[in-house]
Amino acid sequence: MSVQTAPKAGWREWLKGDNYTLHKLHSLTGIFPVGYYLVQHLFFNSFAAMGPKYFNAVVYFFNVILPKPVLYAMELLLVILPLLFHALYGFVITYHGKANIYRYRFSENLAYTLQRISGVYIFFFLLYHVYSTSISHKLYGTDIYYAGMQAQFQNPWIVAVYALGVIASSYHLFNGVWNFCIRWGITVGEGAQRALHRWCMVGFILLAVLGLIALAGFFMHEPVPSPGH
Ligand code: HEM
Repeated sequence: MSVQTAPKAGWREWLKGDNYTLHKLHSLTGIFPVGYYLVQHLFFNSFAAMGPKYFNAVVYFFNVILPKPVLYAMELLLVILPLLFHALYGFVITYHGKANIYRYRFSENLAYTLQRISGVYIFFFLLYHVYSTSISHKLYGTDIYYAGMQAQFQNPWIVAVYALGVIASSYHLFNGVWNFCIRWGITVGEGAQRALHRWCMVGFILLAVLGLIALAGFFMHEPVPSPGH
């Protein structure tokens, strides 16, 4: 008599968007550290609105005062690795998912679709953003200060790409907070979920405004020499 064993799951099966552990880790990394980093990043960049010397002081702190091993360890562990995991598994979820217009309301399907579209846009935006503000400077041994950012924003297309990047990231994070609370059983009842959705949309607008203030900050002042020179 032959013994029947379960068919071996290949890596394609294992990577499906419904892998419980990976999905939970994806959800968690979206809030911490990636979501947390996004909020503090937009906050520090909004110093541009107060003036070049405030913005330059932040860049100076991270690029000059903070010891390089600490900076690189923080960048790797708190930003690059969690974001890469969240983004790549996000593509897996997007690839396997489908909106269900029969089971869910229009607004829920819209939120589901926007979460995925914004994720894909953020991914390509971040490739450009990280290259132009960080990798290219590391390659050529330079640092970006207020004047450098201001020079980039002379191109209106770049301003539009950034404005959309800020709005898409803010929406993605706060719609994500709403999803997160449902997924982890924090908001269970329909009333609680509706109320939280409203608060999350307020959070989305506030964070988007903070990011747009940062962007506007580069049109408000004349550049001053960077503290590094
Ligand atoms: C600024 C960067 C990002 C932040 C702050 C962020 C944050 C979040 C948060 C908080 C969630 C909710 C987690 C949950 O559903 O429990 C989420 C979900 C999601 N993220 Fe991101 N994310 C970012 C970038 C990306 C990128 C680049 C992609 C690439 C496609 C992506 C794809 C997704 C997808 C598909 C979901 C929905 C998961 C689901 O419904 O099960 N995210 N994100």
